[in-house]
Amino acid sequence: MAGSIVSIINKYAPRDKSNLIAILQDVQKKKGYITPEAVDKISSHLWISRSRIFGVASFYSQFKFTPPGRNSIKICLGTACHVQGGDFLLSALKSEIGISPNETTEDRRFDLERVACLGCCALAPVIMVNDTIFSNMSVVKLMELTDQYE
Ligand code: FES
Repeated sequence: MAGSIVSIINKYAPRDKSNLIAILQDVQKKKGYITPEAVDKISSHLWISRSRIFGVASFYSQFKFTPPGRNSIKICLGTACHVQGGDFLLSALKSEIGISPNETTEDRRFDLERVACLGCCALAPVIMVNDTIFSNMSVVKLMELTDQYE
């Protein structure tokens, strides 16, 4: 585990702070999230404080600090989905699975992310579970849907 993070970091020149985003992207791709151990190693390698790394990574929604769930839910809150009740869906989903966007349930059954557009606005409101798009969603359909995933 530690070895893979070291091998990622070693691809980049030490103390070159301009590599921070690229390293974070590699760690995220390899591990699925930015682990505390990776933050420590990046901090030592680039001579950047841990808090600065968290600050930079938090700015970009692509970076996660929690391990991914077995099922990833993306809820669209772009304009078309927002107008069609996307916020209601998000509220219902938060109470159903007990997490907010960018979190993972304790049992790792789900992680949740809000996105700006899933590219199928005519079918709003839309959510995506893993690689499947679900269109014209309602709170009832959403509740039935989450029951289908273990
Ligand atoms: S705004 Fe939701 S799919 Fe485009």
